[in-house]
Amino acid sequence: MEVVEKISHLMHRFHSEAAEFLSQSETAESFRIRWLGKKGAITEIFEEMKTVAKELRPEAGKQIHALRQKVESFLEAQQKKESEQWIEATIAARHIDPTLPVQFGSQGALHPVTLMRHRLMEIFQRYGFSIYEGPEIESDFYNFSALNFQAEHPARDMQDTFFLADQSTPLVLRTHTSNAQIHAMLQEKPPIRLISPGKVFRVDSDASHTPAFHQLECLVVDRRISMAHLKGMIDAFVQEIFGSDIRTRFRPSYFPFVEPGAEIDVACTLCRGKGCQTCSQTGWLEIGGCGMVHPNVFEAVNYDSEEYTGFAFGFGIDRMAMLAYGLPDLRQLFEGDVSLHRQFPLYQ
Ligand code: PHE
Repeated sequence: MEVVEKISHLMHRFHSEAAEFLSQSETAESFRIRWLGKKGAITEIFEEMKTVAKELRPEAGKQIHALRQKVESFLEAQQKKESEQWIEATIAARHIDPTLPVQFGSQGALHPVTLMRHRLMEIFQRYGFSIYEGPEIESDFYNFSALNFQAEHPARDMQDTFFLADQSTPLVLRTHTSNAQIHAMLQEKPPIRLISPGKVFRVDSDASHTPAFHQLECLVVDRRISMAHLKGMIDAFVQEIFGSDIRTRFRPSYFPFVEPGAEIDVACTLCRGKGCQTCSQTGWLEIGGCGMVHPNVFEAVNYDSEEYTGFAFGFGIDRMAMLAYGLPDLRQLFEGDVSLHRQFPLYQ
């Protein structure tokens, strides 16, 4: 077939495909590939021009250009239509207008607690922990009884716990993230290696306590887990946050869901352990509690406590943020003052 004839065939094919395109759901991109792509019809006919007799070339060239222009302007119109449709669909689905100009300069900032939570999650993910989220509204079972709290334990008192008004099915605002331990252990089999950051609630309010605050729980369950693993883990992340010269110490303490149990102290981050006003001259600051998972807890979730051991710890994220960012009063974190947030760069 003569090349000129081929071109006129192509012209016809283009017209019929373009008409069909409008009634089909083909994308402009696949149309473009078929016509203008590396192996597209127009690219191929251009190749053929090399074999066309010299005297025919000017006419054939003119026709190919005309065809290419038609294809290009058709595609341009289709692409424009597609992007308009995308914008409309996006607005409808997300209730935002993606065409509004971005306002640089009035950028927000992450809350210091969010910033600290992200830093901690990044560290523990790097250590191979998964992140588990527990509910904030909780039953007595998950918040207390499965964690080996006896019926008369003072933490269940009205003093500390927010009880939901409707007590037909007694629910509380969780008083700690340890409820996540029970949820996770009932859902999964060992080995378990998780952290669970989140909001917790207690009836408490002064310079170092707010009624809602944030904790990060850590739970490891496997064969032959020992207190040495617990201590090593705590040292590792504390030093990543505060620096490698910061030491930690355990003070024996009681939590019903661990045995033995301890409070975790870190060397005061202001005086680096020498003694100052912030640490009441002791050189130490308390950040949370820890211990080896109590056999009664394993029993509550049907784990064999002869086969498995585990450690858990929990600490205040707000307290960590306060110490790391040098904030004197915990309450200022929750006043909603954006000028506080702006002092912290987005990524540290
Ligand atoms: N849940 C305890 C608290 O809120 C902290 C803790 C967690 C203690 C895990 C031991 C083990 O005080």
